[in-house]
Amino acid sequence: MGQDLKSNAEQWWQTGVIYQIYPLTFVDANGDGVGDLQGIIKKLDYLNDGNPNSETSLGIDAIWLSPINQSPMIDNGYDVSDYYDISDTFGTLEDFEILLEESHKRGIKVILDLVINHTSNQHSWFVESSSSQDNPKSDWYHWQDPAPDGGVPNNWLSYFGGTGWTFNEARKQYYFHTFNKNQPDINWHNTEAKTAIFQMIRFWLDKGVDGFRLDASSVYSKDKYYRYNPVKFGATDKNNYHNQHHLYDKNLPENHQLIQEIRNIIDEYEDRVLIGETFIDNRLYDSTIFYGINNDELHLAFTFEFPLSPWYPGYLQREIDKKELITPKGAWPTYFLDNHDIPRHLSRWIECSLCTNPLGIAQAAAAILLTVRGTPVLYYGQEIGMVDNEDIPPEKIQDKAIVKSETGELPPPRDGARTPMQWNDSINAGFSFGKDVEPWLPVHQNYPEVNVERELKEPDSILNFYRQLIKARKNNEALRIGNWRTLIHYPYEHLAYVRETKAERVLILINFSYEKDLTIDEHISKDNWQVLVSNVRETDKIINLPASLEAFEVSVLRK
Ligand code: BGC
Repeated sequence: MGQDLKSNAEQWWQTGVIYQIYPLTFVDANGDGVGDLQGIIKKLDYLNDGNPNSETSLGIDAIWLSPINQSPMIDNGYDVSDYYDISDTFGTLEDFEILLEESHKRGIKVILDLVINHTSNQHSWFVESSSSQDNPKSDWYHWQDPAPDGGVPNNWLSYFGGTGWTFNEARKQYYFHTFNKNQPDINWHNTEAKTAIFQMIRFWLDKGVDGFRLDASSVYSKDKYYRYNPVKFGATDKNNYHNQHHLYDKNLPENHQLIQEIRNIIDEYEDRVLIGETFIDNRLYDSTIFYGINNDELHLAFTFEFPLSPWYPGYLQREIDKKELITPKGAWPTYFLDNHDIPRHLSRWIECSLCTNPLGIAQAAAAILLTVRGTPVLYYGQEIGMVDNEDIPPEKIQDKAIVKSETGELPPPRDGARTPMQWNDSINAGFSFGKDVEPWLPVHQNYPEVNVERELKEPDSILNFYRQLIKARKNNEALRIGNWRTLIHYPYEHLAYVRETKAERVLILINFSYEKDLTIDEHISKDNWQVLVSNVRETDKIINLPASLEAFEVSVLRK
């Protein structure tokens, strides 16, 4: 099945674990209720203190920071008004330099979110571009005359609801925005705009950042002639955006040329990574083209197979199978369960009939993510079993980009999955010490039980399970780079798969239920398995292959 890396050196972005930080709610060091860079610096030791045998670190290898640039925060940083500066909310450029240095000291790489499909409408480029039809930057965004009846130029929609076109009085023209009207899309056909962005990319690489996550990297390209998108016959998705074939406003061939150009810049520097959010109508097949014809586009392409799967072994395995089959030769998969745009997995999956055991689900999900072939990306708080805060009162909602859209049914607000990190059981879950300030979003009320401090002390906590799995990956070549092979072809209640290299074999057994009998389709040696990680078996013990599993058992065994 999948490609063994064979003689390729192991790259940090292939074997490491990436951890996504949502800076607004990770740690607030200055007590104003909003997270900041100094806060992140304070918690670096928790993420990785540089000691491989640490008793208090999670042990991750890289952080990806959701946007930290200057921004009016209509889309909470995904609307940049100055690419060269750090948002006042988070600190200063100097704070960022300290964060970079302190991270590197601990062996943590730093990945920035690069939001270049659009800028904020408050970016000086857009302010200039929108001032007249003949200024030097007039063509830096997508401007079109009204249709003959004065209406929008074509049928392109905004992903956040309604038309994608907004009228501008000064120019008497419309501009296009894939997202909120405050996020105008950059016109990548304009070479000056492109040069300005490329220069900015070099600025951050020169500073020493280890790579980027390209935001919305499949919607950069737009048809020069602004042709109408065909409507999908009979489609009735609640978000109207999905009822069109996005032939002309998304994923055009030039999109790939552009990512290749960005990759060329990345490759001028040593050891950097280019990750991208492929955002392709949820179609895994299409997303693989983001690796490029000669592996010359993204190093890692984010697709949504786990977020879109139900909590059901067969479905999850089918997604992994597909990805194994279609990931191009020499390319490397990546997986995630959660991010800042979707409900957390323990909230998504808790509804199902077998979900009487949230800890069991959390452990099984952690095991899949950290033992499948590919780079795992964790979202802050996932490692302690955080769930969505579903009780945020409307007046406290911060996700204005979606709420403010005018028409149609929209993706649900994303705030539930963005609440403050739960560090301990003190005020504001230790996120912010400011007694009289309210945290940016309300802390989930389960924080007295679900928090880092408490879980570090409990040997059987989900946090310690994550720590053990991460350590097992570090210490076992098969888990880092080995091939993936399933031992059950149509799994119903159990997953059983191996990861193997020439030198090592690791077997992963996961029970999704109370069903005990383990039936494996393929022959596999029965004796002498060493327990690497398990929620029911003693670590390091040598055992025979179990004929039956305990309810919700997760065991990772090595030959
Ligand atoms: C980000 C979202 C953001 C959107 C617009 C994405 O896909 O992940 O959080 O709202 O791009 O920038």
